[in-house]
Amino acid sequence: MKALSHILRSNQCGDNNAPVIRPATATLLALLTACGGVRPSAPASPPLTPPPAPTATEVEPLKAAAAALPRLVGAAVQANLLRTEPAYAAAFAHHFNYVTAEFEMKWGQIERQPGQRDYGRADAIAAFAEAHGMSIKGHALVWHGDSPAWLESLSPPEARIALEDHIRTTVGRYRGRIVAWDVVNEAIADDRSGLRDTVYLRKLGPGYIAEAFRRAHEADPDALLIYNDYGGEGLNRKSDDVYNLVRDLRTQGVPIGGVGLQMHLDAASLPPAADIARNMRRLADLGLLVNISEMDVRVARLPGTPATRLDDQRRVYHDVVAVCVAEPRCHAITFWGFTDRYSWIDAFFGPDDPLLFDESYRVKPAYFGVMDALRGR
Ligand code: XIL
Repeated sequence: MKALSHILRSNQCGDNNAPVIRPATATLLALLTACGGVRPSAPASPPLTPPPAPTATEVEPLKAAAAALPRLVGAAVQANLLRTEPAYAAAFAHHFNYVTAEFEMKWGQIERQPGQRDYGRADAIAAFAEAHGMSIKGHALVWHGDSPAWLESLSPPEARIALEDHIRTTVGRYRGRIVAWDVVNEAIADDRSGLRDTVYLRKLGPGYIAEAFRRAHEADPDALLIYNDYGGEGLNRKSDDVYNLVRDLRTQGVPIGGVGLQMHLDAASLPPAADIARNMRRLADLGLLVNISEMDVRVARLPGTPATRLDDQRRVYHDVVAVCVAEPRCHAITFWGFTDRYSWIDAFFGPDDPLLFDESYRVKPAYFGVMDALRGR
């Protein structure tokens, strides 16, 4: 190939006035340009990386929007993380006015040996909440998922005494400090066989549910007493079983005041928001308060890109929280954690990003879904 400069000089392109260019690449480029080929575009600027999302404490607090309704907006927390991780404590205090201990108030955690009760971590969570003007929900007095192992070895009368002691001591300890208790959690079987086969049913019979509510009411007559469960958020056979259980308790005059819908949702198979609304309304019509008690939204099974999955998640959070905002007797919304850094979902369902803030406490679209719903947008 003739020397480029020669070509330029000899004006192969027919323009005698073309300037003479020296450096090679520039020369080639000039050549192509001179010959009406490529328009020299500005050197390609590297793709713009979007600025990092704001952190949890840099955005408007959810509790401000919730208080205007009013609704309590809360999250499950861990005492150890509140003590050891400042970013965790700061994000929690910034957004929430309602707290649930993720596991520190469960019987199995409190009384590992008969009669030896350790309320240290539960007290720490209560103290944090009170220092930040938050309301506290106790969770959960009677739950097969975390009960003392030694309960199995007791006779029925001994088991009844142990349960009554636990309720009286624990509810009594936080009387006037805890506004609501999940008294009984997940007592209904998933297979429509009625009540779940638990140590409580085996040792105490089906009456253990009513007894637990009565003992809790005696220990703190002002606390809202709640039946809490999962899988019965919309209209289905399990929500019918929950409805029938709490209706019968009301009919018997048992001091139950509310129902908690856990709302551990999989965005790939959701109950319709309209069904959740109808379910909440029928429970409200029984004179009960309802609450969303443990919300998180799994996205791992969704098709699409990470960005579309997070946008789908935003819509789910928006639509479900909007149901609670629209239902006058839905008084509280609790998320089961708030940062993807710490979620039970990873261990129980596989790796996922189910919450409002990412692992670095940066806001996710989900946060805006919740904020828009609280603001009625
Ligand atoms: C889970 C906690 O998140 C985990 O840390 C713990 O290992 C097991 O329990 N339903 C409930 C919650 O009512 O108490 C459960 O919490 C999750 C399902």
